[in-house]
Amino acid sequence: MQEIRKVIIPVAGWGTRSLPATKNIPKEMLPIYNKPVIQYVVEEAQRAHIQDVIFVTNRDKNVIEDHFDYNLQLESVLERAGKLEKLEEVRKVAEMVNIMSVRQKKQLGLGHAVMCARELVRGEPFAVMVGDDLMFSGVPGIRQLIDVAMAEKMPVIGVMEVPWEKVSRYGIIQGEEVSPGVYRVHDMVEKPARENAPSRLAIVGRYVLTPDIFDHLDKVQPGHGGEIQLTDALKTLAQERGMMAVRMAGMRFDAGDWSEFLSANIYFALQDEDLRYELLAQLRKFVQFQ
Ligand code: G1P
Repeated sequence: MQEIRKVIIPVAGWGTRSLPATKNIPKEMLPIYNKPVIQYVVEEAQRAHIQDVIFVTNRDKNVIEDHFDYNLQLESVLERAGKLEKLEEVRKVAEMVNIMSVRQKKQLGLGHAVMCARELVRGEPFAVMVGDDLMFSGVPGIRQLIDVAMAEKMPVIGVMEVPWEKVSRYGIIQGEEVSPGVYRVHDMVEKPARENAPSRLAIVGRYVLTPDIFDHLDKVQPGHGGEIQLTDALKTLAQERGMMAVRMAGMRFDAGDWSEFLSANIYFALQDEDLRYELLAQLRKFVQFQ
């Protein structure tokens, strides 16, 4: 399998879980400490040597693309004010990756969002990263999958163990562990009831796929929630050509869940030496009064 150069990042969802914060701001632009959620996702792709990012957007999401472009007016203000560190920081974001975008005109599900980018991936294997799933680890999350995909010449999906009471929030796989943390996928089901879940191994919004996924997506009927589910197409792809799952190393935060969003903010702020001491003192104070 050739090196993965492209990633599809679907960002057309409404973000209803994060209302009212997301009434007029895309959920992907909410800040985690000093950067929007989506910048962490794109940085993960860049660290994994992916050059081309394809955003699947809607009419209200232009600000996401703008974030990864130059802002000449802001740059000249920063330059005149001698704020050169900030200037470098904002320029660096524009230079991270190539940006392409395609509109998802109707929000018909994650599978449909991936389908919208079909023409832009042009028959190459590609990655998919869910725009509000944050992963942090030494080896970038998506790179962990690319390495297995290239070695096995197969599509690979990222999984993590979740508690039984959370299986109904995820796609859940049934697989056979062939080496530590690497599974051969036999089956999967989107958001099963706890009693129907084949395991606690949940799909976590990172995928490396081959272009034949589109043939499977073509055939998928609306599934869970009446949506075109990527999971349903992955299931038939796994059964027809084989698929691996990798238990991902590192931390994961679902930015659409308030407690995880807030934890991610604290986690990142604590990495900043300038903030760490004061923030810890504040947190200790809050905890004392609980
Ligand atoms: C999507 C996928 C699901 C996966 C999840 C990970 O669901 O359909 O299989 O487990 O992302 O975040 P969503 O969260 O978009 O409902």
